[in-house]
Amino acid sequence: MKIAVAKGDGIGPEIMDAVLKIFTAAKVPLEYQFVDMGKWVFDKGFSNGMTPEAQEAIESLGILFKGPMETPKGKGVKSVNVTARKTWNTYANNRVFQTLHGVDTVFSKAGIPIDITIVRENIEDTYGGIEHMLTHDVSLSRRFITRPGSEQVIRYAFEMAKKKGTKRITCGHKSNIMKLTDGLFLEVFYEVAKEYPELKADDVIVDDLCMKLVTRPDLFDVVVLTNLQGDIVSDLCAGLVGGLGFAPSANIGDHICIFEAVHGTAPDIAGKNIANPTALLLSGIAMLRHVGLMKSAAMIENALLFTLEEGKHTGDFGDKSIPSLNTIQYSDAIIANFGKQPRLGAKPSLPDMPTTPTMFKLEKNAMMESEETQKEKIVGVDFFIESNEQPVAIATKCLRHAGVKFKLINISNRGTQVWPTGSVYTNLVNQYNVRFESIDDFPLNQQDVLGLYVSLSGNFKICSSELLLMLGDKKAYSLAQGQ
Ligand code: NAI
Repeated sequence: MKIAVAKGDGIGPEIMDAVLKIFTAAKVPLEYQFVDMGKWVFDKGFSNGMTPEAQEAIESLGILFKGPMETPKGKGVKSVNVTARKTWNTYANNRVFQTLHGVDTVFSKAGIPIDITIVRENIEDTYGGIEHMLTHDVSLSRRFITRPGSEQVIRYAFEMAKKKGTKRITCGHKSNIMKLTDGLFLEVFYEVAKEYPELKADDVIVDDLCMKLVTRPDLFDVVVLTNLQGDIVSDLCAGLVGGLGFAPSANIGDHICIFEAVHGTAPDIAGKNIANPTALLLSGIAMLRHVGLMKSAAMIENALLFTLEEGKHTGDFGDKSIPSLNTIQYSDAIIANFGKQPRLGAKPSLPDMPTTPTMFKLEKNAMMESEETQKEKIVGVDFFIESNEQPVAIATKCLRHAGVKFKLINISNRGTQVWPTGSVYTNLVNQYNVRFESIDDFPLNQQDVLGLYVSLSGNFKICSSELLLMLGDKKAYSLAQGQ
């Protein structure tokens, strides 16, 4: 089987060479096609950070094993890491955080074992990177949470939890505040949960989750979260098991999967042969299991665990009274321990089940759409306008434009209602949301909304607008604070 390998930037080539040396010594039956991605590819003028040949190779091989990559700052280009995850729809980011013997943490010293898998949605949320300045003072980020996108990652999490023999699966969220976005994610979680009665499914609000993970990490098994919350919570979990040097990551999609370490290019130590390759090695071991090379995975992981138990370490962790090894010496120490079993947590050598990634060319983009079960109706519109006037002055102008079909419902500033009721203690910024709804449920269409837009634009710069919809008998929009 052939996989694509991109060594990456900074410490990337050093740690990738170390890991591939371990794979070669273990006679892992993989061939590598090295592809060009990362900083120098940006520098050569490829704005997505990868050459067309790299893209073609990865799309035909289906597996990318990558080192960390740098995104040049100040050039307006997007991270190649995020581009790769999104372009190839690797919708689930799977990060396993386990107590590693020899890696001292407050929990290992207290005898509290940790084995948490964080499944982070990998495409949506604020990582859409859709941002605008609405006025010179006000920026806006769009946060997409979709039903099909949530279902993909949540279903993956349940399937993975079932295969792992996990008992508990938890959804982390903030649906008490973000009722429509996180509310949708949570709704889908419990819909999918019905299909897995053998798993205990529950949910925890993300701030509470952070506190509980720090106080009782042993109570959690698999935790599934939206993108940004998952990003933050997974770094928290990396801290629980000894830091980023031990955090592997698998980006799982239906066609292409990407395996990488969580950490970055560590420019401060690049080229010094002192980087810790453990996180990339753990990512590589996850990749071996993903393609069914169970025996190689178990042998290498047991050798790694044995090496850690011996107290061998690179400079960034471990017992300072034992001299640290450089990257090459550390990988050689692991190779020397092939065939040895760690005292604790030895991994069973399961039979190989080689699977070749499905090699196919997609003809067109897949449209993911769930069945529309509720009738949709336009009942109003939110206009986001620029103004530094007082709410009453804005209301006076808006009321003139309402006409016969619309009524002005309220005006809010940064999500807090300031008209018709409000408080003078609410600080304002120069961008308001004025909400119009139809009079007496008068049926509205887009032309009505455009008419109001044109009329209102005589008085205000309209920065953006959103239709207010009813889905069945449910309002498909949030209320302002205080409304
Ligand atoms: P970083 O993870 O590269 O470094 C943070 C700290 O951890 C540094 O002190 C570094 O020396 C240390 N460190 C990280 N990995 C280590 C290892 N394997 N062994 C020993 N020490 C290690 O994060 P930072 O500094 O925020 O980002 C540096 C660059 O990496 C940026 O250009 C960023 O965009 C990129 N990056 C790339 C990622 C990827 O390719 N998936 C992920 C995160 C950052």
